[in-house]
Amino acid sequence: EKGPFPFYMLKEINEQPAVLRRLVQDYLDESGKPVIEADLLAALDQADRLYILAAGTSYNAGLAAKSVFENLAHIPVEVGLASEFGYNTPLLSKKPFFLFLSQSGETADSRQVLVKVNQWGYPSLTMTNAQGSTLSREATYTMLLNAGPEIAVASTKAYTAQIALQTILAKALGEKRGVQAAIDFDARTQLGLVANGMQTIIDEKDFINQLAQNYLATTRNAFYIGRGYDYAVSLEAALKLKEISYVQAEGFAGAELKHGTISLIEDGTPVLAIITDKRVASHTRGNVQEVRARGAHVLTIAMEDVAEKDDNIILDNIDPLISPLLSVVPTQLLAYYTSLNRGYDVDKPRNLAKAVTVE
Ligand code: F6R
Repeated sequence: EKGPFPFYMLKEINEQPAVLRRLVQDYLDESGKPVIEADLLAALDQADRLYILAAGTSYNAGLAAKSVFENLAHIPVEVGLASEFGYNTPLLSKKPFFLFLSQSGETADSRQVLVKVNQWGYPSLTMTNAQGSTLSREATYTMLLNAGPEIAVASTKAYTAQIALQTILAKALGEKRGVQAAIDFDARTQLGLVANGMQTIIDEKDFINQLAQNYLATTRNAFYIGRGYDYAVSLEAALKLKEISYVQAEGFAGAELKHGTISLIEDGTPVLAIITDKRVASHTRGNVQEVRARGAHVLTIAMEDVAEKDDNIILDNIDPLISPLLSVVPTQLLAYYTSLNRGYDVDKPRNLAKAVTVE
């Protein structure tokens, strides 16, 4: 089943361009208009706030999509950890709509919130890779990722599929609301560009393996930094590295370094900077200077538009609003090769289960 791949994780990273193209086929018509259940869109349109709830990587996919919904659909978004939200529920808006992101559809932390949402009588949508799963059955609406089974414990293609499908949903809602940004956002073309850009990175996997060896082979810790759209990705990049390679990793909003964490930077500490967001690129470059001056071993991942000649990994240009779809791919490969080179079972990291069905 793994075909030519030594581990499912590599297979699933490789499948991402195809998963994106399938989502385009399944959820956009020939002219690029989203094909979304009318009742679901009507319910979303009536909402005054979108609450996105999830755990782990799915939570990170919600963080990455917050700006997409706010920009394209003009709906305020709150992203919450399901485990916290249910017991520490924030003051809700008048007309909340709940979006549950769950690859497995079985995560108990998310389900306990959905049970409450149903008791409160609010509408909900589960975006999942598992048809007929608990979260899918219990939510008002379901949208399927159609990403094919994800076997590796570390989630990769579900993360990108969740962001892509949220983007399509945001466009649909924005169009319904007459938001010009949504009308102008050419999802079909943009997601196509992302799929091509992913393929470019996947084709450079041997080079990324070398970078993993140079930067992460023996380190005990690592930091990812990013601002704006790149911040959400830095969190996901750090999670991926820790869960399969056991390197202690943290993701930061670039500016936060100087508010504390920069004290941890020593000679040789790896700092991985993600730079796709034009609005803040120069500030992240400033952070890179600061940590370099303190001895950090800096690896940069930058999008062509904002790239400089010394950057290590260059991403094809895509709309920065959805750059997490692309910038995450090299970080998945860096985590994969770090785990592989350290001799771990990439697909089955210690202490972790694929679906976490206990709270
Ligand atoms: C990380 C990972 C986990 C899951 C989390 C939620 O790679 O796989 O953090 O993302 O357990 O799982 P789902 O999406 O199935 O609800």
